[in-house]
Amino acid sequence: MGGLRGFPVQDTPFARLAASRRTVHRFEARPVPEAAVRRAAHLATCAPNHKLTEPWTFVLLGPQRRQAVIDRAVELFREKLGDEAAAKRRVAWEAVPAYVAVLSRRTPSDPLREREDYAAVSAAAYAFALALWEDGIGTKWTTGPVTRDDAFLRLIGSESADALVVGLFMLGYPAEVPSAPPRTRADVFRVTE
Ligand SMILES: Cc1cc2nc3c(=O)[nH]c(=O)nc-3n(C[C@H](O)[C@H](O)[C@H](O)COP(=O)(O)O)c2cc1C
Repeated sequence: MGGLRGFPVQDTPFARLAASRRTVHRFEARPVPEAAVRRAAHLATCAPNHKLTEPWTFVLLGPQRRQAVIDRAVELFREKLGDEAAAKRRVAWEAVPAYVAVLSRRTPSDPLREREDYAAVSAAAYAFALALWEDGIGTKWTTGPVTRDDAFLRLIGSESADALVVGLFMLGYPAEVPSAPPRTRADVFRVTE
């Protein structure tokens, strides 16, 4: 799963896992076991969540919902990029072994609660990606146009229309692990007087 890429940290299992995870763009065709996705979703719920609101939902898309999302995504790509680019995107999206929508609860009556819930689900989404990576399964966290489309929640069969889409995760065994995009900031940590 790769090395620590010069991170100034001790070499531990968590350090190796966190430092080696990459956003994966190309996947093998072999399916992702549902049990691995379920495990990752459950581990993700170990994330902190203020007031124990448990605001997260992980939706593994079955064949019909998946096709509906792909069709709508391609339609949106076509409107923006034209036929040829949209056709290429369809091939790429259909090759993705699994899709998981990660949702956060909306609370229109309480914007602070909604923001804190979104933060908690973001933490859970990262834990989800790390848990899958530990099993050799790569992810791509996407927030493309389809995730912002009014129809998205209906297309995935969400029980609640009152949800925020934190991401549509693409999952699969990596056909290629990209090299690490550099983290360039040296000033991420400081100690005050
Ligand atoms: C909120 C969020 C949205 C993202 N959306 C996309 C996306 O739509 N398409 C994409 O290719 N990557 C997306 N990414 C992945 C980032 O581009 C990626 O994490 C970054 O390039 C660093 O690469 P790494 O994950 O391999 O460290 C997203 C990441 C986050 C946190």
